[in-house]
Amino acid sequence: MPGIVIVGAQWGDEGKGKITDLLAEHGDAVVRFQGGNNAGHTIVRGEEEWKLHLIPSGILYPGKTCVIGNGVVIDPRVLIEELDGLRARRVDVGGLRISANAHLIMPYHLLLDSAGETRLGSNKIGTTRRGIGPCYADKAARLGIRVQDLLDEKILKKKIVAAMEPKRLSLRPYEKDPALDLHTMTEEYLVYGHRLEQHIADTSKLMWELLDAGKNVILEGAQGAMLDIDHGTYPFVTSSNPLSGAACVGTGIGPKAIDEVWGIAKAYTTRVGAGPFPSELEDDTGEQIRSRGGEFGTTTGRARRTGWLDLVALRYASRLNTLTALVITKLDVLSGFDRIQVATSYRGADGAEFEDFPYHQTVLHHTTASLTELRGWKEDLGECRTLSDLPDAAREYLDFIAEHSGAPVALVGVGPGRDQVIWTEAGRDTLIGEAGGVGSGAPA
Ligand code: IMP
Repeated sequence: MPGIVIVGAQWGDEGKGKITDLLAEHGDAVVRFQGGNNAGHTIVRGEEEWKLHLIPSGILYPGKTCVIGNGVVIDPRVLIEELDGLRARRVDVGGLRISANAHLIMPYHLLLDSAGETRLGSNKIGTTRRGIGPCYADKAARLGIRVQDLLDEKILKKKIVAAMEPKRLSLRPYEKDPALDLHTMTEEYLVYGHRLEQHIADTSKLMWELLDAGKNVILEGAQGAMLDIDHGTYPFVTSSNPLSGAACVGTGIGPKAIDEVWGIAKAYTTRVGAGPFPSELEDDTGEQIRSRGGEFGTTTGRARRTGWLDLVALRYASRLNTLTALVITKLDVLSGFDRIQVATSYRGADGAEFEDFPYHQTVLHHTTASLTELRGWKEDLGECRTLSDLPDAAREYLDFIAEHSGAPVALVGVGPGRDQVIWTEAGRDTLIGEAGGVGSGAPA
């Protein structure tokens, strides 16, 4: 089972980092295929904590290949800082490969991201202001600068001139004198090129070689299905496709190379930034979930919006990704609630019930969640390692999720530690079996 895709099944921040990290230990390669440093993982290893934004977390294991695929947008300053930080903590970064075709975030992308948000005022998207949207816009407009351009000074200069000139005009109302000097920028990016050169590669070919050799390759998505630019809550979305389908285009492989697609969802819902969120709780319960779950952004530190689990959205994500399994994270955060609610349908402004995610934005913006009430539990789940260790009500909750989302639960998170997980039979069946399968670290 060489190719497994890990995607967020909600609005991002589902805990994909920890799951990828668990699987990576027994995999051969970890690959990113979209997004940029708008994502962020915190990996806890014993006493040590790692925060990674661009480099796949597999880098923490010696000898793994880590790939930043062509679909990722790279801020080279951030990437180099991350590499230096890892080296300073004696992590071998020799296994990192960066696609020569990946696009680069340029200083004007950062300025444009902020200017765009300022222009939108109260209608702003709430972006991470990392330049992600403007970089993908330039890619589509064929004005992008790619990693390979860093290795050719003449081309780099030419491309920066072509891309930068139109930006001056659009930035004028927001920045009197934007610091966009051709010479300084070219010099800065050439230095980045020298620093990154040893890692730049034809990663599509590398992917093919890995998969052809039967290696276990974990393709790690950033953000989540509801932030997908095509299928998410547009325009309150990111500028890439966090869906499993993008794992192919974003790395240069075909769909037949993918064997498993795991969707990660928290036991409740969170969202950062603006946009519809039918099961949102703007009350004490929402505050309780936020403080118990530590729901503040890794990348931006922003407080996340919180709400009950949304099964309408989860079903939608399950379908969009063709999920083969679900991972439910942070189940422990729900301990202590007498009753737990879940959104099982939406109610429109005119009283119409929606079992499926409404395709029309106007309809979606006016829906509220129709909630089903389930039993809560009081017990701390931190020490549970099998389904039978869980209180009955927690098991019922997982069964309810699987039944209503259409995907079996493979793995459950019951605390921040690496060992605080429960492998279900479905999870073990999927991943174990072949010697050296990525799940061979799962308890038998
Ligand atoms: P951008 O990706 O910075 O352009 O932001 C667009 C939207 O996606 C905003 O609502 C962000 O809060 C959201 N977003 C981007 N990255 C993440 C993430 O890693 N987790 C959660 N939300 C994200």
